[in-house]
Amino acid sequence: MLEDSFGRRFYYLRLSITDVCNFRCNYCLPDGYRCDHDRDFLSLAEISRLANGFARLGTEKIRITGGEPALRKDLPEIIQTVKNTDGIEHVAMTSNGFNLKQKAQDWIDAGLDSLNISIDSFDPRQFEAITGKNKLDDILSGIDTCLTYGLNKLKINTVLLREFNDHDLSQFFDFVKHTPVTLRFIELMQTGTNLEFYRQQHVSGQIIENALLQQGWRLTTRPKTAGPALEYQHHDFAGRIGLIRPYSKDFCSTCNRLRVSALGNLHLCLFADQGFSLREHLNSDDPQALQAAIRNLLTEKKPTHYLQQGHTGATTQLSMLGG
Ligand code: GTP
Ligand code: 5AD
Ligand code: SF4
Repeated sequence: MLEDSFGRRFYYLRLSITDVCNFRCNYCLPDGYRCDHDRDFLSLAEISRLANGFARLGTEKIRITGGEPALRKDLPEIIQTVKNTDGIEHVAMTSNGFNLKQKAQDWIDAGLDSLNISIDSFDPRQFEAITGKNKLDDILSGIDTCLTYGLNKLKINTVLLREFNDHDLSQFFDFVKHTPVTLRFIELMQTGTNLEFYRQQHVSGQIIENALLQQGWRLTTRPKTAGPALEYQHHDFAGRIGLIRPYSKDFCSTCNRLRVSALGNLHLCLFADQGFSLREHLNSDDPQALQAAIRNLLTEKKPTHYLQQGHTGATTQLSMLGG
């Protein structure tokens, strides 16, 4: 089992398989993806060794992230490889959902257990203003497709933005009223490239938390592989509401995840100052060396992200590492 010097245990790996994205979310990649050099992303064989190494160290859940992971043609094979790894009980993915309707069945057949999709507005024009894409209707029908095919562990991610969606939260509650998904409001995080945008748009999730409690929503309990969201339920709603508040006190005290970038670098935190390359170990048949390297690097993990102090580390935008 992996445990750091602060007693935190790591059961969950977030694995980015590409940093390319086809959306232009205003808080992440407002100018779209720019390729400054050739990208040599992890191959299927490397992903297999990586998943196996982490599983032997106690990892039970792997979340596939991007950029946009669905831009990789071999995504179904990646899902299947991770799913077939001894010890991995849960394969999740985070996607912008651009081809969800067409691909959901393939991903489910490959073994995907759960899926998180970003929807920052239910108004198509506002959605396009935020993401640069007129894709809301396609994504919504993709969600219906998932529910029809039985992929019902679905979460929606909504980044709270002062001038774009904060004034009309009822659209999100209306959706959750009849749809059995968890919609999480995420506090906008400052990254290396969005400082001005962050200053203008950041909203605290505290107001939502107060409103939820006032309206009779009840906090649910979290399993050990769950993410950082606090989740609330209400008997009048088919779905749940979640809150991800990285600026709240003690957010990092329950950290249970590590990250590997699409280039095979281990990041001990979303906002770490650097990644440590694992690649030499992914091209050797000595699983012990990979495990020893991960254990050894984990001793460097810091107690918190230091976001409150304006620290953003090496993370210029979250598409680099999948959030
Ligand atoms: P699950 O609970 O497994 O569904 O994962 P998740 O909610 O962590 O996954 P998702 O990829 O949907 O991320 C939702 C938001 O949480 C994104 O904005 C992530 O950047 C943010 N997030 C996830 N993990 C961390 C973390 O360790 N630190 C910080 N600061 N933000 C995180
Ligand atoms: N702050 C908060 N959430 C962000 N995401 C991307 N960039 C940021 C940011 N700066 C979210 C996306 C996606 C998830 C992986 O991370 O909306 O849902
Ligand atoms: Fe938007 Fe995610 Fe793409 Fe960033 S990586 S531009 S948040 S869809």
